[in-house]
Amino acid sequence: MRVWAVANQKGGVGKTSSSVSLAGIAAAAGKRVLLIDIDAHGSLSAWFGINPDQIQLSVFDLFEQRASLNTSFLHKLIKKNVYPGVDLIPSAVVLATLERRAVGEGMGLVLKKSLALVEAHYDLVIIDCPPQLGVLLVNALAASDLTVVPVQTEYLAIQGLERMLNTLNMMQQSRGAALQHCVVPVMYDKRTQASVHSLRQIRMDYGAQVWPGKIPIDTRLRDASKAGVPIHSFAPQSRAAQAYAKLYKYLLSAQQSEAA
Ligand SMILES: Nc1ncnc2c1ncn2[C@@H]1O[C@H](COP(=O)(O)OP(=O)(O)OP(=O)(O)O)[C@@H](O)[C@H]1O
Ligand SMILES: [Mg+2]
Repeated sequence: MRVWAVANQKGGVGKTSSSVSLAGIAAAAGKRVLLIDIDAHGSLSAWFGINPDQIQLSVFDLFEQRASLNTSFLHKLIKKNVYPGVDLIPSAVVLATLERRAVGEGMGLVLKKSLALVEAHYDLVIIDCPPQLGVLLVNALAASDLTVVPVQTEYLAIQGLERMLNTLNMMQQSRGAALQHCVVPVMYDKRTQASVHSLRQIRMDYGAQVWPGKIPIDTRLRDASKAGVPIHSFAPQSRAAQAYAKLYKYLLSAQQSEAA
């Protein structure tokens, strides 16, 4: 089972869109996929028509029940087949209270321990992270073997990227093990100078950490979220769908060559 965290401490950079797009492509390739929404705003859950204001059991309950987690409890939380081949652990608004409660409570490994319980059921887990550093993001990074860092191709995004890479570095030191990551340029608009220049800058500054491709700006992504399905099934010929399919293949092979 592979576990990918999609993370950037900057908001609105395409984390949720990337999580859903990659999940849809993996499922279409026959993989059993689990999506986890750890953002209290619940955009990922909402994409699949689940209202985080009304949810009964959510990722929050993993933290509440952390002393007595078991496989059957996990299966109660999991919404099956929100899209063919994709299951989802939804978020809930109450998740926003977790950061306050979690201080000094040693809650950093709840997600990792939870995923160990369903390891046999999934090929790929994708965790859609909130845009702040806190106990939830730390859980996601501790549970994952690859962090996908979407970064907007615009001037101000590079500062946010630096902050995220510092966080990864910190996590790596506390784990004492390598934490692989891949920077993914998104919302690329070849018609604007800002996009073209900042992509060049990102590649220059971060070299091999950056996926050689880019996700173009594509309004079909928003349309896909309204339709409640991943982009590759909503608009298979769209530039975004094709770019995400390339990214998916790259991430798989990058991870394989790292493991070899
Ligand atoms: N490649 C793209 N082209 C055009 N619009 C995009 C693209 N990717 C994402 N968007 C749009 O940008 C907005 C933010 O995207 P998304 O919700 O995926 O970001 P996020 O990083 O998860 O945000 P948050 O930090 O709030 O969780 C959404 O309206 C989404 O439809
Ligand atoms: Mg999001």
